Amino acid sequence: MKRPMSNFGSQVMRVFSGSRCSTFAMVWSFMGFVVLLHLISVCRQKDAANEGNHLRTSNRPIYLELETVEEDNLQIPPPKGKRSPHATKSKNKNRRTHPIVDEFLDKKSQIRHVFFPEKRTAVDPMNSAGNDSFYYFPGRVWLDTEGNPIQAHGGGVLYDERSGTYYWYGEYKDGPTYHAHKRGAARVDVIGVGCYSSKDLWMWKNEGIVLAAKETNETHDLHKSKVLERPKVIYNEKTRKYVMWMHIDDANYTKAAVGVATSDYPTGPFDYLFSKRPHGFDSRDMTIFKDDDGIAYVMYSSENNSVLHVGPLTEDYLDVTHVMRRILVGQHREAPALFKHEGTYYMITSGCTGWAPNEAMAHVADSIMGPWETIGNPCIGGNKMYQLTTFLAQSTFVLPMPGQQGAFIFMADRWNPSDLRDSRYVWLPLLVGGPVDGPLEYSFGFPLWSRVSIYWHRKWRLPKGSSSSTK
Ligand SMILES: *[C@@H]1O[C@H](CO)[C@@H](O)[C@H](O)[C@H]1NC(C)=O
Ligand SMILES: *[C@@H]1O[C@H](CO)[C@@H](O)[C@H](O)[C@H]1NC(C)=O
Ligand SMILES: *[C@@H]1O[C@H](CO)[C@@H](O)[C@H](O)[C@H]1NC(C)=O
Ligand SMILES: *[C@@H]1O[C@H](CO)[C@@H](O)[C@H](O)[C@H]1NC(C)=O
Repeated sequence: MKRPMSNFGSQVMRVFSGSRCSTFAMVWSFMGFVVLLHLISVCRQKDAANEGNHLRTSNRPIYLELETVEEDNLQIPPPKGKRSPHATKSKNKNRRTHPIVDEFLDKKSQIRHVFFPEKRTAVDPMNSAGNDSFYYFPGRVWLDTEGNPIQAHGGGVLYDERSGTYYWYGEYKDGPTYHAHKRGAARVDVIGVGCYSSKDLWMWKNEGIVLAAKETNETHDLHKSKVLERPKVIYNEKTRKYVMWMHIDDANYTKAAVGVATSDYPTGPFDYLFSKRPHGFDSRDMTIFKDDDGIAYVMYSSENNSVLHVGPLTEDYLDVTHVMRRILVGQHREAPALFKHEGTYYMITSGCTGWAPNEAMAHVADSIMGPWETIGNPCIGGNKMYQLTTFLAQSTFVLPMPGQQGAFIFMADRWNPSDLRDSRYVWLPLLVGGPVDGPLEYSFGFPLWSRVSIYWHRKWRLPKGSSSSTK
């Protein structure tokens, strides 16, 4: 009996809100509703008691260092003179933004070094002063083992069990930023998908471009004038192929498709197979997720980013099936990053404001196919402005922390729209546990779910006992 209450509750809700009848009927409905609430709460308590984890608080250990709330006082200088034109050139001009977002998008901001620290502060695994070894510094330039800034934006990490190695795939954006036309978004020509390998999640070796752009074939999906975003790779045990899914588009984002590529090796080269509109729908920001039972899913922003679609892939992971559900309908979310903890599915998403940062939301579900429920902003610490802008970044992936129960690494991109190749990585600890903040749609105000928390840290490292820090 896997939490039938959510479904039950949502049906009740539908019936209840759908009836436009007399006061009499309303009163009776309401009384029935109250009785139901009581029943649900009784069942809930039994459930919780049986499971021995009251209110779904997880049994994970406490990670004192990671869960320390770290304040970061940030003073925004008073506006003086004219802002650079780029400050107002986000994709959604009319949307009201937070002052920090204007400051962030202003190339001439006096506090730009706070958002984009100078290269001399780079995290350099090959030349790190002993004390900073294995520390993540969110927002600083991060160098690979050859001393070059890592190019793996909008990325994801695959743990390859066969080699015991992590592979980080992402957009290789080391080219000039320009606008294809006056109203177009800032872009970099497609170069390809970058791949980096690591045993410890800190020191990354460049494995090269594993899926390269086409220089000359203008009709090809991978022509440099097109768009390739958010590549993600999973391994198929049956076919023994590494399968990459990505967002494929034209410069105006009208193609709105997914692309699929495969390789026999994690380090490629990947063979590009095709692009398509999954389930016949437009598909922009996307991710794939491989569940414990080997079934993989694709999730993508659709219907002009107003809703997310989710559906299982075929057994070979090369296509979608006919099964699809619409989730977070009308919520306008993108950049989904999925993960699973103690049998429950979680997800972090962003709003849709182009390259400009916005507020992250956490979502939770018993089944990956939904219903999904929004449980609020997961960002903790830093300052209010950081919390309202996902630490000036956008979600891309959530990776389980090796050997740590209930602890994850939240991976996000701090986009630099005036120079996209200089976009930074914001990696922070994410923990699941504790009750959520507010009353929720499907739970009638009962805190049925665990909280998802992403803690700001100026610097942090994986806890001792992670396979990575034992090296
Ligand atoms: C490392 O830490 C020690 C003790 O905290 C300190 O004395 C030393 O100056 C630090 N070294 C560097 C290179 O930061
Ligand atoms: C260019 O790409 C298209 C679409 O993938 C393909 O059909 C065509 O054969 C390619 N042309 C050349 C010359 O490779
Ligand atoms: C994109 O839109 C612009 C302006 O609306 C148009 O001039 C251009 O041809 C379009 N490009 C593509 C690749 O569709
Ligand atoms: C998305 O927007 C386009 C252009 O505004 C419109 O033609 C199309 O019908 C919309 N699609 C959906 C599914 O809402």
